[in-house]
Amino acid sequence: MNLIFFGIIGSGKGTQAELISNKFHIPIISTGNIFRRNIKNKTKLGIQIEHILAKGHLVDDEITVQVLKNELKKTNLKKGIILDGFPRTLHQAKMLEHILSIDHVFNISLSEHEVRTRISNRRTCKCGATYHIKHNPPKKEGICDKCKRKLFVRDDSKPAVVKNRIRVYKNKTEKLIEFYKEKKILININGNLAIKEVFKQISDKIIELKKK
Ligand code: AP5
Ligand code: MG
Repeated sequence: MNLIFFGIIGSGKGTQAELISNKFHIPIISTGNIFRRNIKNKTKLGIQIEHILAKGHLVDDEITVQVLKNELKKTNLKKGIILDGFPRTLHQAKMLEHILSIDHVFNISLSEHEVRTRISNRRTCKCGATYHIKHNPPKKEGICDKCKRKLFVRDDSKPAVVKNRIRVYKNKTEKLIEFYKEKKILININGNLAIKEVFKQISDKIIELKKK
């Protein structure tokens, strides 16, 4: 199954991608995580895009698609793939059609007010794991359960940057809902519920689709 996890920032794409990946053994490609890893490691790409993420803008379509293609080459696609945070523009969605056939798009909705609360309570690890200090805390405060590294607050979590990321989502990304609705592969998920309940909605749907 080739899946897209779609939604406004903080809607839980990363959180749910990890849970679904563990349950169904489907690998994840998160363009946001790849970009952040490159920035931390000060690679050529990282240096090129650092200022873009810091402001909450989108990385150029051509660069992003190339990053996705490179990652796909390194990934075992036998069980399918979960794309977290890609595509984000109509151009990316159209380019993706030449790269991979998508089976379902999970559109996780979330109110704008909740976006801000979730982002300010999020703690992230370099390994890609995501925590919420109240709703999904690590076992030991400030330390990743999986790899024991120190957790951090993402640079793009500042209120002004979050405001811009919401604006970018509304101007460039939200239109993809219509695009995938027309293709009849869009599945709406209520992201306002607790992590476990959102997970159950997605997971039940995948089981149902697998039976078809
Ligand atoms: P990216 O890393 O993709 O960020 P995003 O889409 O802005 O989304 P987030 O990662 O902030 O939120 P999420 O939906 O994953 O929520 P999470 O699970 O963390 O992209 C970052 C940047 O990279 C972009 O701004 C852009 O510059 C660039 N980029 C990436 N992809 C690109 C592309 N395709 N094209 C161009 N540029 C690109 O959850 C948030 C918090 O809430 C966590 O604390 C979590 O524990 C908690 N939480 C989750 N679900 C629940 C729940 N149900 N109840 C309570 N708490 C919850
Ligand atoms: Mg994420």
